Amino acid sequence: MDTSRWATSYTLWQRSKRSLVGGVSTSMRAAALPHPLFFERASGAYQWDVDGHCLTDYVLGWGAIILGHCHPAVVSAVTDQVARGETFGAQHALEYQVAERILPWFPFAERVLYSNTGTEAVQMALRLARAATGRRKFVKFVGHYHGWADSVLVSYRPPPSEANVPRLESLGQVPSALSDVLVCPWNDPEAIRQVFAEHGEDIAAVLTEPVLCNSGVVPPIAGYLQMLRDFATKSGSVLIFDEVITGFRTGVSGATGRYGVAPDLVVLGKAVANGYPVSLVVGRTDIMELANGRGVVHAGTFNGNPIVLRAALATLEVLDRPETLSTLFNATDALASGLITIFKHYGIPAQIPHVGGVAQILLGRANPPRDYQDFARADQATYNLLLVECLKRNVYLLPGGRLYVSAAHSSEDITRTLDAFDQSMHVLQQGKGGISVGHAGA
Ligand SMILES: Cc1ncc(COP(=O)(O)O)c(C=O)c1O
Repeated sequence: MDTSRWATSYTLWQRSKRSLVGGVSTSMRAAALPHPLFFERASGAYQWDVDGHCLTDYVLGWGAIILGHCHPAVVSAVTDQVARGETFGAQHALEYQVAERILPWFPFAERVLYSNTGTEAVQMALRLARAATGRRKFVKFVGHYHGWADSVLVSYRPPPSEANVPRLESLGQVPSALSDVLVCPWNDPEAIRQVFAEHGEDIAAVLTEPVLCNSGVVPPIAGYLQMLRDFATKSGSVLIFDEVITGFRTGVSGATGRYGVAPDLVVLGKAVANGYPVSLVVGRTDIMELANGRGVVHAGTFNGNPIVLRAALATLEVLDRPETLSTLFNATDALASGLITIFKHYGIPAQIPHVGGVAQILLGRANPPRDYQDFARADQATYNLLLVECLKRNVYLLPGGRLYVSAAHSSEDITRTLDAFDQSMHVLQQGKGGISVGHAGA
């Protein structure tokens, strides 16, 4: 493949590899195609790479940028805050101001705990659940990602044929992680019945993305979240919704509000401060207050950082305007339906499941996805070719096919993006003498 179009990025990447492992800051970014790109700046729906291209961005900081890059309200809030101190190592009013903005969106919850990444907040939620129940095990679902900590990096991307066998995802992970986790297929009521029948009294928590966003943007089947709620309540387990992606992309009350099922704890991250690092556990007082001198340790030098929380406050204020999320949802709907039309035109079976402001391209799939298997069996090879063709046309996509949209994506941006997809499909079909996409009819 001719990658000269991104020659400066390539050179910087080689240079970067001399000091950074793989030349990247997270393994996930090493998967970028045709190779990791370097960027100079970003604004609204766009990022400018070091080779001078203005890319319409559907990576969006892997979902963190919900308002668009450098939203004026966030920039001005952060600029003002920066001169007031980096971190106090003590309390300040922004901590309760942000908490008081979020809590009314989650009426089941009365308390907030801050941390910096989704990974940390999930660990906190699990610790609280174990402390509250005095139990050790938790239920997690195949294909769900809850961060890279040992305890949860289990059965995230198994080969489809081995999806039912719990497996560690990283060398060096502590093998005993497997003894604490009960892995179930997503959207499978029978599997839940069974796991609670066999282990109910040992289950501290059910940990789930309420929409399986990490592997396919798969919504819960009707009644599924309520079923998780009922089983958790009956067995005295804690229900944790990991809303690190769905938090605010599916509504200000996340998937919790959208589907009307109240968990005991919600984990938020990514979009809370529009690109500044903060995460939260939001939950019931009786569980959360275990961290208030009742034995549960919650720590972190940077927790509640004032600059980050000022960014969060500004972000939440903009999110609270009804037009913000309706613009985001309309843009996502337009993108998804435009893509369906394009793939149909080229005779490619495809699904574009989407909820709120997050969507997924699944090539070679004739039916809406129901679980991880439907994601894992999509035609990734053709998607990768499409991604590179789109990049040549200045559309920046994630590896794996997830699409994040922001409230800054205008209808012109979506139209230009769809043109880029159309041209890319045309080139692929010509170049390959007609793309043949695998697994059609699945
Ligand atoms: C659902 C979910 N939970 C947790 C995490 C971990 O968050 P972080 O990368 O901030 O540690 C992610 C990250 O992508 C996520 O998608």
